[in-house]
This record gives sequence, structure tokens and C-alpha cells, in this order.
Amino acid sequence: MLANTILDGDAIVRALHGAFARDASRPELLQLAATKMREAGGPYTGVYMYMLHGDELVLEAFDGRPTEHIRIPVGTGLCGRAVAERRDINVGDVSQADGYLACSLETRSELVVLIRRHEEILGQIDIDSDELHGFDDAEEREVKKVADALAVLL
Ligand code: SME
Repeated sequence: MLANTILDGDAIVRALHGAFARDASRPELLQLAATKMREAGGPYTGVYMYMLHGDELVLEAFDGRPTEHIRIPVGTGLCGRAVAERRDINVGDVSQADGYLACSLETRSELVVLIRRHEEILGQIDIDSDELHGFDDAEEREVKKVADALAVLL
């Protein structure tokens, strides 16, 4: 963990490995990741684990405010765009983002990090923040550690 990051990605990866060793199920691993990330506090307001099923992202676990977006087609919203463009998306100000799907009017910034196993996209970690520019590059790298661990364990 870098001194200036909020999230300790390595600690969450250790917790995921521990749960996996105790035979945690896929829903349990996804919920653990979401809960641990949100526990980091601001800027982690809401953490949503969307997994890819065909051409749709399906919300399989979350921690934070409930969302009406349970299923998101690939190509729709920031979440669907990340899959379509096969890249992580970090939006510092959602009011300026084309095609943004609002979950809460309080949300100011959003980070989407893909869960990839080699070339295959398994899903994504979608994080909403009530803070503008909630996630810098170092913060994003901590989230990616969690995504990369899930890619192996799921
Ligand atoms: N904001 C996302 C939708 C997911 S909810 O915010 C949890 C998007 O633009 O795809």
C-alpha cells in the first residue's frame, strides 16, 4: 500500500485468499470484496460488482446505496462502455461524462476497473464516490489489485 492511498489493496487480497482457502463461494467472495472496499470510507461511497453474462453486466454483489441498475447491456453507461472498449474508466466528474447512468444524485465521480483473466473479461468493480475526482492513479492501482485477485479466485 502506498502511503497516500486510502485503500489497502494487498490487505483485501489477503482477506480474499483467506476466504477462498475456507471454501468461500463466488457470491461470498464478491460480497467480501465489495464490503472491504467500501469499509475504506470516502471516496468509496458505493462498490458494485457487475459480472459479465453474455452481452450484459449483472449486479452480483454491492455495498453502499442500492441501485436500480441490476443489468446493464455492454455498451451502455460507463460500466457497459468499459467492457465494450476493454479498458478501465476513471471519471473525475460524472456530470461531464457522456452516457453516464446515474445511480444516485449524490455521486460525483466513478471508477470502473475490469476483472480480466488474460484476454477474457469476467466483470468489473464499479465504484461510486460522493467526492469529485475521488480516485487518482495510485488509488486505481489498489483497486486493480483486488480485481486481479478476483480474476484468479472466481
Ligand atoms: N453509473 C454506472 C451505472 C452503475 S450504478 O452507478 C451503480 C454507469 O454509468 O454505467
